Amino acid sequence: MNKVVLDASHFDGKARQWDSNPVFIERAARIAAAIRAEVPLSRAMAALDYGCGSGLLSFPLKDELGRITCKDTSAGMLDVLREKIAAQNVTNITVRLTDLTADPLPDERYDLVYSSMTLHHIPDTAHILAVFHHLLNPGGHLCIADLDREDGSFHGPEVDVHHGFDRDALAELARSAGFREVRFRTVFEIVKQREDGERAYPVFLMTAAHG
Ligand SMILES: C[S@@+](CC[C@H](N)C(=O)[O-])C[C@H]1O[C@@H](n2cnc3c(N)ncnc32)[C@H](O)[C@@H]1O
Repeated sequence: MNKVVLDASHFDGKARQWDSNPVFIERAARIAAAIRAEVPLSRAMAALDYGCGSGLLSFPLKDELGRITCKDTSAGMLDVLREKIAAQNVTNITVRLTDLTADPLPDERYDLVYSSMTLHHIPDTAHILAVFHHLLNPGGHLCIADLDREDGSFHGPEVDVHHGFDRDALAELARSAGFREVRFRTVFEIVKQREDGERAYPVFLMTAAHG
């Protein structure tokens, strides 16, 4: 079977409806609360939201952080985010169309890197974790929210993504990238209707410290 890649044009097509999904809003609120519980946030911190989409995770955190850079490969998502920033007169969020898996790495460094539901779209997990480590200042924090290991039914068997992540294996990859104090907590459950009934897909938050 030829697998389908969910590229930037896929998310461009979803961007205008993204914020009308109450599950996405609730998921972002729960992830933001878990980040708050795990990391001492402050207005002195520079943060990167990688795979930010329409900014659903950065909006609830914006008043507790200094500068936030939101990066994504979908121009459509970033258009929606820019409109929200303008409508609410937000002054501390910068938007960048970027693919850290392919573009030259920037000079900037962050105190916090967070990413929600994006890791499963990036083929080389070890590489992107190394990039996040590179972009963090010493003492900085990484927060990744994504699906626990699942059987492929979340996106469907034809879609070319990671089928969630085994926590132990992901922790090992994070440690290999230079992180320490790797911790997990379950932050949310996405419930989908399947032919055989309801199915719940847990979402974890992995937190780690720059080693
Ligand atoms: C499932 S959406 C999550 C969006 C947002 N973080 C949220 O929680 O609502 C995944 C996002 O990752 C972005 N993405 C996929 N591959 C990417 C990559 N290599 N670099 C940056 N963003 C990427 C997509 O464009 C999309 O906006």
